[in-house]
Amino acid sequence: MCRLTDKVVLITGAGRGIGRACALRAAEEGADLIITDIGNSKESVPYKLSSLEELQTTAEKCKEFGSSVIVQLADVCKMNDVNALVEAAINRFGRIDALVNNAGIGAPAGKATHLYTTEEWEILLNVNLSGPWRLIKAVAPIMIEQQYGSIINIASTAGLLGYRSFAGYVASKHGLVGLTKSAALDYAPQNIRVNAVCPGPVYDDERLDGHMTKVVADSLGIRLGDQESIDLESVAMNTVVSPYDVAEAVVWLASDATQRVTGTTIAVDAGYSAK
Ligand SMILES: NC(=O)c1ccc[n+]([C@@H]2O[C@H](COP(=O)([O-])OP(=O)(O)OC[C@H]3O[C@@H](n4cnc5c(N)ncnc54)[C@H](O)[C@@H]3O)[C@@H](O)[C@H]2O)c1
Repeated sequence: MCRLTDKVVLITGAGRGIGRACALRAAEEGADLIITDIGNSKESVPYKLSSLEELQTTAEKCKEFGSSVIVQLADVCKMNDVNALVEAAINRFGRIDALVNNAGIGAPAGKATHLYTTEEWEILLNVNLSGPWRLIKAVAPIMIEQQYGSIINIASTAGLLGYRSFAGYVASKHGLVGLTKSAALDYAPQNIRVNAVCPGPVYDDERLDGHMTKVVADSLGIRLGDQESIDLESVAMNTVVSPYDVAEAVVWLASDATQRVTGTTIAVDAGYSAK
């Protein structure tokens, strides 16, 4: 028996990277999926966001495991997009068992706190913190009616610790950890669990079109290889984290194995935050 048989899982930011790894692992475990991404870039984000083609690639790979998959574009900054996404999921599947709030941006960054422009500061909070809140706002009523659900917020070790030159990202991810704890208390009586997964440095897996390490390197004005060396030195183990390590924690939290786990943060960071 697969761990997510008969479960419906909604995953944001599933066009590539960690979101695609979560979709693939959930499909492999028997889930049906609603996967979403923005489908174009934003002027205020200094690197390319995922395309519709990348999201469709995720869907094709998930279908190979036998999953039913809805593909729908949505900007997590737009409540109308989010509502339409959830409506599409309900029309097709009739329920949502797990929500994976994975969509996020790693930049603008690479400067001291006072040097962020207002626009740079606001886009980080809008995508990384208010985005998950919008999804919870749309999905919670459904989960309350079901008296069942698991919400998994992909935060970061930047939600637990400070990082020089990344104040906006760090503030947004600390906020997401706070949102996780409060929402867990709000919905515990309705049997809805809310947890955060905090990845440490994750390597860019080409098979998943991942490139967040490159975004961090570009923000700091250093070479990708140098950033990879810094990441490797920063963790306690001899390897940085794979997107599939993060996906494994997500599958576990989406499954019934964690029916009594709520309001917690799980670091998947090769010991980074233990040091
Ligand atoms: N890669 C890492 O080292 C690392 C470490 C810790 C936490 N994280 C977090 O993991 C999550 C996934 O990151 P990733 O490394 O796979 O990066 P990524 O850039 O490959 O994936 C993030 C996805 O979110 C999407 N997205 C961005 N803005 C959006 C918006 N407004 N609406 C909808 N979708 C939007 C992007 O298009 C992209 O597909 C993020 O929340 C990130 O902060 C990543």
